[in-house]
Amino acid sequence: MSLKEIIDQLPDGAEEAFVEREFTPAFIQALGFTKDDIFFQFPTGAGPVDHAAGKSTENGRFIDTRRDPYLYVETKGQDKDLAEGQKEYVKVVDQLKRYLLGDKSESVQWGIITNSLHAQLFRKHGKVIYPVTPCLECSDPDGIARKFRERMNIVPRGLTIAIYNNKGGVGKTTTTINLAAALTVLGKRVLAIDFDPNQQDLGDALGLPPSQGQMWRMLTEKNADICESITSYEYKFRSGEKVGFDLILSDAKMVSEADEVGLRQYVKDHSLLKTLESVKQTKYDYILIDVPPNWRVFSQQAVYAADVVLMPARHDNLHSLQNAGMAVTDLLPEIQKGRRRSFGDAGPIPLVVLFNSHPSKISPSLSEIMHKAIEQVIKDGKKKGFNLRPYFYPKWTKGRRDFEMVKIRYMANIAKADFLHTPAAFCSKVAFQQYRKFIKDYLLWG
Ligand SMILES: Nc1ncnc2c1ncn2[C@@H]1O[C@H](COP(=O)(O)OP(=O)(O)OP(=O)(O)O)[C@@H](O)[C@H]1O
Ligand SMILES: [Mg+2]
Repeated sequence: MSLKEIIDQLPDGAEEAFVEREFTPAFIQALGFTKDDIFFQFPTGAGPVDHAAGKSTENGRFIDTRRDPYLYVETKGQDKDLAEGQKEYVKVVDQLKRYLLGDKSESVQWGIITNSLHAQLFRKHGKVIYPVTPCLECSDPDGIARKFRERMNIVPRGLTIAIYNNKGGVGKTTTTINLAAALTVLGKRVLAIDFDPNQQDLGDALGLPPSQGQMWRMLTEKNADICESITSYEYKFRSGEKVGFDLILSDAKMVSEADEVGLRQYVKDHSLLKTLESVKQTKYDYILIDVPPNWRVFSQQAVYAADVVLMPARHDNLHSLQNAGMAVTDLLPEIQKGRRRSFGDAGPIPLVVLFNSHPSKISPSLSEIMHKAIEQVIKDGKKKGFNLRPYFYPKWTKGRRDFEMVKIRYMANIAKADFLHTPAAFCSKVAFQQYRKFIKDYLLWG
């Protein structure tokens, strides 16, 4: 029986138990799993998810071993409206995310929510969960299962993170460099991109000269090979051990070639996204993009190419807080629309606001002003239909008002690193520990 026929046979407004029994197992099988690959009410370590699926191996059937789940599906009844933005939708996405981050979920790569009328596919890369498709109406459920299956057949190795805030000087370049360095030390393959051709700070900070038109060619010529634009940065520890990450450096041709209008003729919205496709699939675990402090062609393209956007800000700079809010409520939705129109995917989502250059102590009065300002930004977001709280206070839960922010402290070693042309996360243990903590909290398991 087709999925469409199964749905047609469900009673109108079918309750969760019906959908869960009749539709979801058939849907999971349409994704390429067998009955033996599916387990009902799987304990995730953060509560039971309705269905988990995993491949059976020589050690036994997944239904018996329940080892290394690969996919979670959380089902709701048709009486719950799962159209994007609806209350129930927000609730079930939160629920799925909780399960995907449960203690028993490290191996899980994909998550799905459905009530048989809507379905949405999510990817989990390390600890980062982002939507791969919009929440789709199931007018053609068999087609949707085919689409999800196609997406799940290609598991991209890399996660693309744009580091963006419209405000200048908040630590975008510093964050890009040090995350690249810290991830490298943690054994990850990293590509860092200087996508701020006006300043070229990333290359400068590493003591590397800008490229000579390679990036321009990469973005504007159809058959240009991205590998021609990639260079590497290497660091030698005192022990003699060498580590390094790859780089795409800016080039002056990108600013000298044309003005904003002219640039848009050569460099399309999707140019960077398309360029990175091949290396993202197989070569890198993380692609980090340093974005300029404006909302013009390069920043828009960088965000367009991203899976998630990390937003550095400063506790003492109101604009940087407001801009982070604006990125979530206005700028990202604009890019998401473009990605949906052109590629049918969901587009980039915000990760968190990273309070950079944070002092170890803030006076009570400044702290009060800052939290008040954040509350105002959250209020403004609410008026536009967005909940900004999780980005400013990720540890806040329904039962616990937790004002803890995500921070990288001010450190002389970080400020100094530019002059030494060496990422602080390579040459200072304490700096490395700070970035490592962020990485362990938000990007990587273990
Ligand atoms: N955690 C930190 N501790 C000490 N100094 C820092 C820290 N983060 C950034 N800085 C310093 O602050 C300055 C601005 O940082 P950075 O260049 O990374 O900001 P930016 O957002 O990329 O700026 P722009 O918008 O101009 O591109 C630099 O001199 C950098 O060394
Ligand atoms: Mg910068």
